[in-house]
Amino acid sequence: MTISVVRSPQTKPLPDSKDLGFGRYFADHMFLMNYDEQNGWHDPRVVPYHSFNMDPANLTLHYGQTIFEGLKAFRWQDGSVNIFRAKDHIERFRRSAERLCMPLPDADVLFEAFKLLVDVDRNSVPAQRGTALYLRPTMIATDDALGVRPSGSYLLYIIASPVGSYYTKGLAPTRILVEERFSRATIGGLGEAKTGANYAASLLAAKEAKSRGFDQVLWLDAKTHSLAEEVGTMNIFFVLNNVLVTPPLGGTILDGITRRSVIALAEEWGIPVEERPVAMSELVTAYDNGTLQEVFGSGTAAVISPVGELFYHDRALTIEEPANSLRERFYNAISAIQYGEIPDYHGWITPVPAIANGHAKELETALPDDGTAQA
Ligand code: COI
Repeated sequence: MTISVVRSPQTKPLPDSKDLGFGRYFADHMFLMNYDEQNGWHDPRVVPYHSFNMDPANLTLHYGQTIFEGLKAFRWQDGSVNIFRAKDHIERFRRSAERLCMPLPDADVLFEAFKLLVDVDRNSVPAQRGTALYLRPTMIATDDALGVRPSGSYLLYIIASPVGSYYTKGLAPTRILVEERFSRATIGGLGEAKTGANYAASLLAAKEAKSRGFDQVLWLDAKTHSLAEEVGTMNIFFVLNNVLVTPPLGGTILDGITRRSVIALAEEWGIPVEERPVAMSELVTAYDNGTLQEVFGSGTAAVISPVGELFYHDRALTIEEPANSLRERFYNAISAIQYGEIPDYHGWITPVPAIANGHAKELETALPDDGTAQA
């Protein structure tokens, strides 16, 4: 399968690094590929960024059959551009597709699509440390119908956004409300899939927490509301008596790629790691006896984010980050790998070669339309 390229006649200037924020600006191009039962996946293409025309009966809009991913490309000091853990994100995207009854896109096509899109939008990769080009692969159902069923046709697209910090406060410690009423995900539900429904389920709790002065919520298990699961949109880690502890994956928790990176580094550094249930009662006891040393969240968007307070049962458990914290060590090591400052002995980095120029020439004639294909 060859990916065609049509370049945008206009290019937007890259905003100043300090103004980027998260997901506010978009690169000039996007990747698209269609699926239908007759043709399978077909027509992969990089085209100018554009809006979609959608029928009001589009299945995604009604029943939420949609998945996404989030990964980043980094500009290194030598000017090269490199994507972090692309293959892991592809594998997770395919698992989400399976859970949402969607057709699996070919992993190699997606891998080529990431590299080609980033190459075409190379000028949108910001250079400052702490910034990146965030890629958002997304798949939506495209049948127009009101019966509840899996769609027969789909659109896969990838957009790219030059980003800075996810949180406006940067790496300042967050105040977290332990959420005991609402649940993010249940056993047998969608929690492990990267799908809009999980984020929709989180909005009201986050809104109420913010109105009370908190930054986010700590999600507990839906059955007993006693076990820590995730923090906001991130995986959660605790340092308890010098052991790195994180809740186990079991269907309700997202299998975070940054979570995997943290665990891999800890194991290499000889830090004991436990993936096991973490009860709020255990955290309170550890807090009281001084063994709750650190709490932090991990995710692609914010990387590693320190938790400064857990508010639980009318009590603020305030966590003072120690000097030389593990959180800082993980943040520094992951960032150093992402920005090419230390060698990538894990095979997490995909360099983005300059491939698009010849490609565009060769393939433009093969394009079936003007690039503004309908959703
Ligand atoms: C991430 O941490 O990468 C996330 O999943 C957050 C994203 C939905 C903005």
